[in-house]
Amino acid sequence: MTYDHRPVTPEDLDLVCRHRRDMFMASGRSADLVAPMDGPFRDWLAPRLASGAYFGWIVEQAGEAVGGLGMMVIDWPPHPMHPTQAARGYVLNVFVEPGHRGHGLAGALMRRATDEGRRRGLDLMVLHATAMGRPMYEKLGWAPTSEMSLSLK
Ligand SMILES: CC(C)(COP(=O)(O)OP(=O)(O)OC[C@H]1O[C@@H](n2cnc3c(N)ncnc32)[C@H](O)[C@@H]1OP(=O)(O)O)[C@@H](O)C(=O)NCCC(=O)NCCS
Repeated sequence: MTYDHRPVTPEDLDLVCRHRRDMFMASGRSADLVAPMDGPFRDWLAPRLASGAYFGWIVEQAGEAVGGLGMMVIDWPPHPMHPTQAARGYVLNVFVEPGHRGHGLAGALMRRATDEGRRRGLDLMVLHATAMGRPMYEKLGWAPTSEMSLSLK
């Protein structure tokens, strides 16, 4: 059976929330750790889906969603990797249902995202990789960066 791509719409609010939750759980986080994010993420996402600030694609098989990818253009100061732009493309919530993995769906979604980044004239795209996603991104030519973080909670 074939797979189709369609743009994310505001009606995908619940679906994108689930993809994000399942993505973090697939990366080893417990349901207890992920649950506090659910409501605030939903509240954050709804207006951004409506405005188009959050966009992306859903993969469907026979009308049923089996994966998705989100993207944003984020404000970022000019940097040697994008010296004349105050923006970066950001990819998030990359998720493929377990029964549909290994068929090139995430790779195809990533190509859509990079095509869209080029179409928008962006010079750099970034993402945060799960352990599961990292080998795929490396195969697609993405490289690790020097980002560090410190929790203040
Ligand atoms: C990571 C994930 C998105 C990959 O989806 P997928 O549709 O199975 O990936 P694809 O089939 O498009 O794989 C693309 C390429 O990456 C490789 N790849 C994908 N996952 C891999 C893994 N875990 N380890 C090694 N290689 C992997 C594939 O072999 C393929 O290589 P090829 O083109 O040389 O054959 C999917 O496993 C998933 O949803 N995981 C849980 C959520 C998650 O971690 N998302 C990433 C968020 S950063």
